[in-house]
Amino acid sequence: MMNKTWWKECVVYQIYPRSFADSNGDGIGDLRGITAKLDYLKRLGVDVIWLSPVYRSPNDDNGYDISDYQDIMTEFGTLADMDALIAGMHARGLKLMMDLVVNHTSDEHPWFRQARASRDNPYHDYFIWREPRDGREPNNWEAAFSGSAWEWNEATGEYFLHMFSKKQPDLNWENPRVRREVFDMMHWWFQRGVDGFRMDVINMISKPADLPDAPIIRPGFLQPGFGLVTNGPRLLEYLAEMKRDVLSRYDCITVGEAPLVTVRQGAEITNEETGSLNMLFEFERMDLDSVGGHMNGKWAYKPLDLRDLKTTLSRWQTALHGNGWNSNYLSNHDQPRSVSRFGDDGADRVVSAKMLGTFNHLLQGTPYVYQGEEIGMTNVPFESIDECRDIESLNIYREFVEHQGLTPEQALAPIRVKGRDNARTPMQWSAASQAGFTTGTPWIRVNPNYTAINVEQAVADPDSVFNYYRKLIRLRRENPVFVYGSYHLIVPEHAEIYAFTRTLDAERLLVVLNFSKNSPTFTAPAELSYSGAELLIANYPVETGDVRRFALRPFEARVYRLKV
Ligand code: GLC
Ligand code: CA
Repeated sequence: MMNKTWWKECVVYQIYPRSFADSNGDGIGDLRGITAKLDYLKRLGVDVIWLSPVYRSPNDDNGYDISDYQDIMTEFGTLADMDALIAGMHARGLKLMMDLVVNHTSDEHPWFRQARASRDNPYHDYFIWREPRDGREPNNWEAAFSGSAWEWNEATGEYFLHMFSKKQPDLNWENPRVRREVFDMMHWWFQRGVDGFRMDVINMISKPADLPDAPIIRPGFLQPGFGLVTNGPRLLEYLAEMKRDVLSRYDCITVGEAPLVTVRQGAEITNEETGSLNMLFEFERMDLDSVGGHMNGKWAYKPLDLRDLKTTLSRWQTALHGNGWNSNYLSNHDQPRSVSRFGDDGADRVVSAKMLGTFNHLLQGTPYVYQGEEIGMTNVPFESIDECRDIESLNIYREFVEHQGLTPEQALAPIRVKGRDNARTPMQWSAASQAGFTTGTPWIRVNPNYTAINVEQAVADPDSVFNYYRKLIRLRRENPVFVYGSYHLIVPEHAEIYAFTRTLDAERLLVVLNFSKNSPTFTAPAELSYSGAELLIANYPVETGDVRRFALRPFEARVYRLKV
């Protein structure tokens, strides 16, 4: 039995505020900039906007290090600007999802300033402290942005835990006062008008009590400890408490970011009756083009084998059908651009971006569109590390050069492929100076291809990625089978074609996607029975012909409606 709800039917658009639109020429995107672009988003047809963090922050990790949860980052504007943005959205029927970053705060948050002052400060226990072990760090964990996950605090003679940068101390969720503070803050935002939360690394909030050493996969180095802090012993309890005390009081949308989550845990957390969140961002799909278990993690690139993607996503599609819910995403502010990663950002950019958009909107689940994806924005040809801004890239570059002996070119190569700055260059609004993003100097360079790839061009061109997305979103709104139809993978062994059906009562969609530059032939399985086929959307002109067997052009996508 599948309940119908708006958060299953909606399309979410993610805004990375720093890079979206600058209203005052200081080179930094801001809230007024976003408000001025709401009609554009309305035109695209999305329903919900997920705003990456806009809270007060010293910006060690671009706002994911929060020093005041109930105020706005100075560079982005004021609470009054925020109220105006919310009002502007609601006036247009758009909903707002805020980013909830509560695994950690900034080290400049008043809680942490207090906490680090003395062991008997009432805030001390808001964070996670350990005595030195043999005069050194308490365990062998490496932080996400390189270096130890522990930082020494002179005043108390202890180390504190930070799974990300040393300016992002992890909160101690064991402390009920921490949970209460977080829940109160969530109520405060709901009462201000927000419609939901995207929850940053939410499956990391419960740590194992003893914080043991991580298994050694990189002898002689620190070890990734994420396997130990994700899906911890009290995670479900904390989420249930959040649901009981906060989420259940509002008609809201929630998505939890969940690295290393398994499909079983995903089904548990998103179960409509017994789970706590609507959906999760799972990461298996993002790990398929890295060499598993490699000491350099995501930076150890290997080409994607499409069959791995099919196996992984089919597992999620099947396991959550009828009890939980999926979120569909191919990129975000932490990932390279989807067209560069899974498609082709050269000659086949437009067709492959449309093919990927088709994929993202036709799987079962709520689709997430990352800013610029809807115009086919690409990775950036960074020429040197000086052009990069992301703490993760800057730190790994140093690690590569100083500790692993790589040359600058060798160190830059994986950053160009996987670095987060690929997705963080300014939104390309027009062919004007700085892509129309700012009248000043942007905080990070613009992608030089903005003269060809930009919103102004895309809106005017009927064959653009943008106008194709509009059609996809409209079709999804008009046809419940897009949302609720069950998923069934066909031609599972094919290395270039990803094809599946979606079925709801007497309606069935046939989705055929060519993920390659080649021209493979699609042959429908014999058991696929239907009496008539109607083409709903395609990224090439299609002649009427045999739907059971046809040759696909590079990155071709077709969606047929079949009469069962
Ligand atoms: C999440 C965010 C990422 C951030 C990290 C630490 O993964 O998406 O941008 O760096 O958490 O908050
Ligand atoms: Ca600005």
